[in-house]
Amino acid sequence: MKIIVLNGSPKGDLSVTMQYILYIQKKFPQHELKILNVAQQIKHLDRDQEKFYEIIEEIKASDGIIWGTPVYVLLVPSQYKRFIELITERNAKGAFKDKYTVALTTSIHFFDHTAHNYLHAICDDLEMKYVGKFSPDMNELFRSENRTKLIHFAKNFFYAIENNIPTSKHFPPLNYRNFSYNPNKIEVKKNKISTEGKKILIITDSTDDRTNLGKMINTFRNSFTENIEIINIYDINIKGGCLGCCQCGYDNQCVYKEKDEFMAFWNQKLKPSDILVFAGNIKDRYLSSRWKMVFDRAFFNNHVPTLIGKQIAFIISGPLSQIPNIKQIFQAYLESQGSNCVDFITDEFGDSAEINSVLQNCAHQLIRFSNSNYIQPETYLSVGGKLLFRDAVYSRLRLIFRADDKYYEKQGFYDTFPQNDEMAKKMNEQLIPVIENNEKFRKKFYSMIKEAIVNPLKSIVAHPDK
Ligand SMILES: Cc1cc2nc3c(=O)[nH]c(=O)nc-3n(C[C@H](O)[C@H](O)[C@H](O)COP(=O)(O)O)c2cc1C
Repeated sequence: MKIIVLNGSPKGDLSVTMQYILYIQKKFPQHELKILNVAQQIKHLDRDQEKFYEIIEEIKASDGIIWGTPVYVLLVPSQYKRFIELITERNAKGAFKDKYTVALTTSIHFFDHTAHNYLHAICDDLEMKYVGKFSPDMNELFRSENRTKLIHFAKNFFYAIENNIPTSKHFPPLNYRNFSYNPNKIEVKKNKISTEGKKILIITDSTDDRTNLGKMINTFRNSFTENIEIINIYDINIKGGCLGCCQCGYDNQCVYKEKDEFMAFWNQKLKPSDILVFAGNIKDRYLSSRWKMVFDRAFFNNHVPTLIGKQIAFIISGPLSQIPNIKQIFQAYLESQGSNCVDFITDEFGDSAEINSVLQNCAHQLIRFSNSNYIQPETYLSVGGKLLFRDAVYSRLRLIFRADDKYYEKQGFYDTFPQNDEMAKKMNEQLIPVIENNEKFRKKFYSMIKEAIVNPLKSIVAHPDK
């Protein structure tokens, strides 16, 4: 059989992910796995339609497709997303219909599941026959039990094609609301508020005033008595997506550095703001690849949070509520950044008057929260994510990500290892042997466990000064 591998790594042949593909090739020499470096060549494919259609012809002639890609910033690299956008823009969806497919990523398991949700949804949108996913850590190929899993995965894919097995769909098609948002300008004017000296920045990939997004942005801006700065990310000179070179690991300096405006945009515009609004249209199962490029290029900060304490809201046009994956990605991203994810406002619900009021309320809320420095408690998304980063930066990432290591050390991130919790250590040392060996004590201990947990909290609630 002939299988086309769409390589999402900007590193092309030097991709870690492609080593997993090459291993499959070694174990199944009876099949041909042809790797196409679509992400690495994206500028070329974007410019040159003929080159793009050559790939589409290869896809048409193939027996199956492997989406092989690294996870970048909780999704796939922006270059890969651009390739996916081109499929629809250039009317090439038909080539993918009914093709058997699998998705294979490598990562460090930080939100690899959201990248897979995305890829699976794309496959369902393209009406492909999605057989399954494989999501190893980048180093899993070293262990023989993992290589065995990889062989099983590949075997199952080839079996599916050879036996024409039925496949289940998981993501229903998106349903776009046919609604034109028309704000009543007098109403918007009535309820203006002051920024109270807060620096607010709107970042968008569209400023077209005729669209719902453009109008929603305007309503939000007009909610303030002062002028609110807006930046269209297409107006920033960004030479390209993240190259995955990791040279930023040493001192957070991107290889593009002064060759384009991205670092200056992030450091001089985003970072000094108190309040940020990210605005965009839904494009396939995320925002645009341009937006993705922004998040990928911000990786020059590696695992150091740079948006600490900021209030951030989203204004999105399109069926966001049908793609909970997007919200999860942004909530996780912002929580990990130490910022407050205030709201997601869309044009999916309510009439124009209702959208006006939620936008104005959001403006109000952003100022109130900013004044009180309110950051919501973290959820599993960043509690789990930060532990994963801490362990990785302490160990195998330490050599490359020197800037991360220095920051983590300075901020005391390493002090939070469980083995550094002296109180827990002492308690466990003293009490575990007694619980294990003294039945009378054990019974008493477990009978009073509920009170023991709640009593210290009760004392805070009852305290007159707390
Ligand atoms: C810009 C960038 C963003 C990344 N984002 C993530 C991420 O969100 N989650 C994760 O687990 N790994 C992330 N990684 C790690 C890569 O997924 C991992 O190193 C992968 O194996 C690289 O594969 P490749 O060599 O095929 O490009 C990121 C790496 C880079 C360079």
